[in-house]
Amino acid sequence: MRIQVEKIRPYSESNDKKVQIESMFDNIAHRYDFLNHLLSAGIDILWRKRAIQEISIINPKRIMDMATGTGDFAFEALKLNPEKIVAVDLSQNMLDVGILKNQKRGTESIIEFVKGDSEKLDFEDESFDAVTVGFGVRNFENLKLGLSELARVTRAGGMIAVLEPSFPTNPLVKFVFQLHFKYLMPVIGRIFSRDPSAYSYLHNSVEAFPEGEKFCEILKASGFRDTKHLPLSFGICTLYLAYK
Ligand SMILES: C[S@@+](CC[C@H](N)C(=O)[O-])C[C@H]1O[C@@H](n2cnc3c(N)ncnc32)[C@H](O)[C@@H]1O
Repeated sequence: MRIQVEKIRPYSESNDKKVQIESMFDNIAHRYDFLNHLLSAGIDILWRKRAIQEISIINPKRIMDMATGTGDFAFEALKLNPEKIVAVDLSQNMLDVGILKNQKRGTESIIEFVKGDSEKLDFEDESFDAVTVGFGVRNFENLKLGLSELARVTRAGGMIAVLEPSFPTNPLVKFVFQLHFKYLMPVIGRIFSRDPSAYSYLHNSVEAFPEGEKFCEILKASGFRDTKHLPLSFGICTLYLAYK
């Protein structure tokens, strides 16, 4: 039987998943951008671009980038000419990298980095036209609660775009992907980051994630509608889109 993604934690200690996730991302923040682009050969940039292109249909002016990390999805969303982007994350060290990038780019008047938890948001109902989450929902301690909060802060008719790694269906691509993901990534992650568990957690959490139609059902149960899932790059990543 598949283990629930909420039960997959980075470390073997018995404390909350949320505490572990925060400390894991605090540990790898200094290397996150480098490793992210290295391990995905830069394709992650194209996936965020595609997501932004899809939500451009509603011309969002107020955007939340949840689980923003070092802010790459938020920076990509600047292409939509929004009035405001609020970039939220649990990990202060990840946010600090994003804050520096924001200063260097001179985009502080539009992007605001805020420490926060997807499951307990300090924003009023319907505060945003669109919400983006890149490679973040898998880490939520309570997936349904986190998504319901995101639905609450999205206005009626607004959109959510979620990116998550996924398993390709083509057997050959799946085999190569498994080799890369299960064996190569943890080794590279161990060499370059200070946290040996982080990149094994990445594989285990992707394996346990309810992908495709299953995740669409969770989106619906959390307050979204008209869900769709688009496999990207032979299905190694999936873009989920839905309306509130
Ligand atoms: C893999 S990083 C993704 C960063 C970025 N979105 C990207 O596209 O590269 C996942 C981020 O999710 C954050 N995160 C996990 N659970 C969270 C939660 N409940 N609330 C806010 N952020 C969370 C982590 O701190 C981490 O920075």
